[in-house]
Amino acid sequence: MMTDKDAAEHHKMLEKLTKKQELFKTIHLGQKILHFTTPQPIIDEINKTYNKNLKNLAQHNKYLAGKIENEHRIDEQLSDHVKKYFEDCFRMYVYECKFMKTINLRQAWINEMKQHEYNPFHYHIGKDGHECGLSSVMMLNRPNTYGKEYSREHVPTNGFLELISGSGVLSFNQLRVDMKVGDFFVFPYDVMHGVYPFNGTIDTRRTLSYNCDLGNDLENLFEKK
Ligand SMILES: [Fe+2]
Repeated sequence: MMTDKDAAEHHKMLEKLTKKQELFKTIHLGQKILHFTTPQPIIDEINKTYNKNLKNLAQHNKYLAGKIENEHRIDEQLSDHVKKYFEDCFRMYVYECKFMKTINLRQAWINEMKQHEYNPFHYHIGKDGHECGLSSVMMLNRPNTYGKEYSREHVPTNGFLELISGSGVLSFNQLRVDMKVGDFFVFPYDVMHGVYPFNGTIDTRRTLSYNCDLGNDLENLFEKK
């Protein structure tokens, strides 16, 4: 059996080999997930907009998978400046993947998750069943604690976002992440994702999701001034 020391030596040797001789390049097939860090003023502005308008926001629950009481639509209340930030992130995704696609912002909503609530694994679709697009999750408030892990405390899961995509016996297809305030993940509509429940706090886990349809209207590919 290989000891930890053997494994470390082996790893070191492989690292040396690949670095020195450039034995290969990696080609990774599959879909990308982009991880942005949103500037704090944008986060503050979204939280302020939500708090100010909460009483008048439309409940969005019937369109969503979440087992969450407070899910409200917010796109109409967001400032042009904030919408531009989202549009820029979605555009960066398209550039990163070298697609020729147009960007069409759709609905945005805020999930304010209380302890014991959860978001079952699901995927998104766009306007009128549009299947090609990007969705996203941005962390606006994270409770200081996600409470007690009922077993295997060294592998925490409470309150984590999980994204699942791709297949193959050797593929990396599961990303579980403890999102911090400002973390913003952008991913294709068909990437399955969910959020695990937490406990031990009355603070809420607040996130915003924005859907963006991608289109093929090449005449309007570039932003008009
Ligand atoms: Fe979602």
